[in-house]
Amino acid sequence: MNLHIILLSLIFLSKTQAQDGNQFPGGFRFGVATASYQVEGAWNEDGKGENIWDYLTHNNPGAIDDGFLTGKGENIWDYLTHNNPGAIDDGSNGDIACDSYHKTAEDVELLKDLDVDFYRFSISWSRILPSGHANYINREGVNYYNELIDTLIANDIRPLITMFHWDLPQPLQEIGGWPNPILADLFVDYAKVLFDEFGDRVLEWITFNEPYQICHQGYSEATKAPLYAQDGIGGYLCGHTLLLAHAKTYQLYNESYRETQQGRVGITVNAMWGEPASESEDDATAAENYIQFTFGWFFNPIYASEGDYPSVMRSQIDANSQAEGFQRSRLPSFTQEEIELLKGSSDFLGLNHYSSYECARLTTDETTPSFINDMGVSYTQPDTWEAGASFWLKVYPDGIRKLLNWIKTRYGNPEVMITENGFSYAGNEQDLQDCRRVNYYNVYLEAILAAIVEDECNVTAYTAWSFMDNYEWLRGYTQRFGLYYVDFTDDDRPRTPKMSSRVYSNIISTRAINWTYVPEGFTACDWSTE
Ligand code: NOJ
Repeated sequence: MNLHIILLSLIFLSKTQAQDGNQFPGGFRFGVATASYQVEGAWNEDGKGENIWDYLTHNNPGAIDDGFLTGKGENIWDYLTHNNPGAIDDGSNGDIACDSYHKTAEDVELLKDLDVDFYRFSISWSRILPSGHANYINREGVNYYNELIDTLIANDIRPLITMFHWDLPQPLQEIGGWPNPILADLFVDYAKVLFDEFGDRVLEWITFNEPYQICHQGYSEATKAPLYAQDGIGGYLCGHTLLLAHAKTYQLYNESYRETQQGRVGITVNAMWGEPASESEDDATAAENYIQFTFGWFFNPIYASEGDYPSVMRSQIDANSQAEGFQRSRLPSFTQEEIELLKGSSDFLGLNHYSSYECARLTTDETTPSFINDMGVSYTQPDTWEAGASFWLKVYPDGIRKLLNWIKTRYGNPEVMITENGFSYAGNEQDLQDCRRVNYYNVYLEAILAAIVEDECNVTAYTAWSFMDNYEWLRGYTQRFGLYYVDFTDDDRPRTPKMSSRVYSNIISTRAINWTYVPEGFTACDWSTE
């Protein structure tokens, strides 16, 4: 046998052995996820209001070049020339998306076929409260979600509802969006409507999906609606409002609903694992700081025993703000009462995880406010990690195991629900034999299982992103994460199972990863190339 064959047999052996005795614990739950703007469509039907993604995609603003922010203020010609059509890769929008608004029965059938324990979806704020304010409730929007919830429950699938997955009502953007602190109260008003209307049947709520993406990408980096480039300022203001909105919603649930509804309320944060780029102490600190600035930003106030923002954020942003001549820190402060309100304000830690970075210390003489300079970290991914279609998505399963252990150590092993994990393919070709996605799910689930069984991390649920191909934000329909293929050129938006949907379904029913499983109608993947 030559070396190559020995190596291939070893890979095969280790992958087939992974199934033996490796069962997910009893009670562990599996689900799939989507989000309203990405799948529902029906953007203006039945009384729904306009949200920031409707607005952005219809008005096609171009991504803002932040060159003009260095020194000079923006003028109407900057605005005009920078708002060129073409922010969205394929110029598309979510007006119809997967048309899920009209396909409740069909979609629940597919979920049943997958055998999932729960379905994570989000509610469109504008569909329930068209103006964003709770002065008027759109009954037709309520009816849509009632039907979805009831159909799920009738099929023994638990709804796991995200209250906010990025589609802020446009009228609330026009009063400043999340950097305006009043939005915390307006969000609580909206949450109250959701508890009143659906809380009798919904036992699990996620207030926010990915605050870092909402805030940093929406208000600092301009890579998500509303595409604001107030780097080092907008994101922190947004995050502050959002954390308070979350804590106040949790308090509302405790005070007025928990006893009667007996549900749970959490929040989901996205985390890339930060691996030190070298053995140096500087890079180890950089990796830790990367996690604190992107993940600890939102979870330190909730899970760390001392609460509040991570001390490294406080000290570095305070120091940079002062050096830049600001009269106060660009990172707002919580009052002692707010710190106490935030502490412990989550019944489970929602974790979205896709990939990892290698982190190194970044030093710069720049004096312009910037999140990256505040963090003082540069991060990259090695070419040796297999790449998905999304530029930030490379396969490094050790990252999730290390991250789960980091959470266990730093936050006292809280209950973690993995609320998203998945792999993207590019293009429109109907690529149903998606071996690279199957490989991704298998290796990540193996790493998660090892974290549970060997490291005793308290992980209780796993959610695949995504149930079906959908609208991938600025990437439009050019990147596909689905277990089901959706034909966006067909008015009926037919869904077709990919191989990964069958493999995932097998994992759910056997509670184990099986590398040799070949679903009917598909051919065996060649794992030696994976
Ligand atoms: C996380 C977001 O929650 C989801 O909306 C998005 O589609 C996936 N990441 C993939 O980028």
